[in-house]
Amino acid sequence: MQNGHEPVGQAVVFGAGGMGRALVAALAASGAYRKIHVGMRKPSVEWASPEWVSRIAPLPFDLLREETIAQAAGAIDGPVDLVLVTTGVLSDASLAVMPEKSIRAMDARAMAHVLAINTIGPALIAKHMLPLLRRDRRAVFAALSARVGSLGDNRLGGWHSYRASKAALNMVLVNLSIEMARTHPHAIIAGLHPGTVATDLSAPFQRGVAPDRLFLPERAASCLLRVLDGLTQQDSGGVFAWDGQRLPW
Ligand SMILES: NC(=O)c1ccc[n+]([C@@H]2O[C@H](COP(=O)([O-])OP(=O)(O)OC[C@H]3O[C@@H](n4cnc5c(N)ncnc54)[C@H](OP(=O)(O)O)[C@@H]3O)[C@@H](O)[C@H]2O)c1
Repeated sequence: MQNGHEPVGQAVVFGAGGMGRALVAALAASGAYRKIHVGMRKPSVEWASPEWVSRIAPLPFDLLREETIAQAAGAIDGPVDLVLVTTGVLSDASLAVMPEKSIRAMDARAMAHVLAINTIGPALIAKHMLPLLRRDRRAVFAALSARVGSLGDNRLGGWHSYRASKAALNMVLVNLSIEMARTHPHAIIAGLHPGTVATDLSAPFQRGVAPDRLFLPERAASCLLRVLDGLTQQDSGGVFAWDGQRLPW
């Protein structure tokens, strides 16, 4: 319960990895949502707190199979107030996918996989979820992007597939914001950079990250929800870091 009122909204979170779970916990603790749908490849609520597990509705989906995203959307009785896409890949040892240190390391199959997960997946989630977004008041669709997807901020190079996939995601978000403004005047579409966060995704790459620059997922999640709370319709299409800073294209 928030401010003594019954929670009324519905949120949908796709992905229950490090950031996904922390965001679900923060949303549940906020008391703003009567129901939080959580899309997962292998649905389970074992990780959820007994205090709010009754408000969690698990949904099976796989980003690489559009029909499962359509089924997940079809299982939700809209409208929804918030959609968060928290899925993503940087490396996958089982598929020999590693962030490329040089041009020589580029591999078409690995590159296609990273773009399928980081760019096409969130775009397909938008395709099936945006029609459920409420029209009569503020509603938000946000996807976890990354600072390294900023063209203007790229001074180091490398990580070709991941950078390209997040830059392309950012363009998809701009496109969504333009199209949604025509039908959903209160909708906000945003990308979010959580900082460097201690999750499975960053685990192989944390060496060299100063301890005070490596966030716990709980801290990153609470920062991101604060950033989302402060966004207005004028911000739609932008990508925002955990501290509220708007990232350059
Ligand atoms: N951690 C960081 O430092 C950092 C920094 C900048 C941006 N980000 C971004 O933040 C987002 C979340 O990352 P994270 O750190 O929370 O990583 P994570 O713990 O590895 O979570 C990634 C999530 O993506 C899901 N996923 C991957 N492939 C999928 C598929 N085919 N279908 C459905 N779900 C799939 C995983 O599902 P399973 O659990 O089933 O594997 C997992 O829930 C990513 O977009 C990442 O690029 C993270």
